[in-house]
Amino acid sequence: MRKIILTAIALSLPTLAVADAATDAVKARQDHMKSYGKQVGTFAAMAKGEVDYDPAAAQAAADALVELVNMDMSGFWIPGTSADDLPGVSYAKPDLWNNFEKAGGIGTELQKAAATMQEVAGNGQGEMAQALGGIGQQCQECHKAFQLKKD
Ligand code: HEC
Repeated sequence: MRKIILTAIALSLPTLAVADAATDAVKARQDHMKSYGKQVGTFAAMAKGEVDYDPAAAQAAADALVELVNMDMSGFWIPGTSADDLPGVSYAKPDLWNNFEKAGGIGTELQKAAATMQEVAGNGQGEMAQALGGIGQQCQECHKAFQLKKD
């Protein structure tokens, strides 16, 4: 009996390890996305006039965003981590894994938009707000295609 139980535990271990790796990948990319959200929130608050435009704060957010969008994200989007695989954990549509090229293309556009922001963030509220528009477009495009709505 004891032996059977031990065997069962041993057999289930690899599955658990895989599940953990998958959940960790989802958490890592969700945290990464939240950091995007934090920087974008800084720009948005200044663009809307909710907080006074501050060139140094805008520049710091731009520098942080550029760093984030250029990080290696290959570990985030591993197979087996779609919303179908991990319901209630992942909100990434399975379609993403059939359209890596499209998703990557949007990621490249986001890198360009963030680079533009880095150039102009300190040049005044107007230029910063315009660059924010370019960034927001890429966030939206990818979410529309590949993010499942949380509700
Ligand atoms: C290449 C596609 C892509 C781009 C570009 C992208 N996102 Fe996402 N985002 C996703 C996907 C897919 C999810 C769902 C991830 C999950 O739940 O596994 C997501 C989730 C999120 C979340 C929710 C995170 C959570 O806590 O669950 C936020 C916030 C977010 N994105 C913000 C942004 C912002 C801001 C930008 C632009 C600066 C952006 N994203 C750009 C694909 C993208």
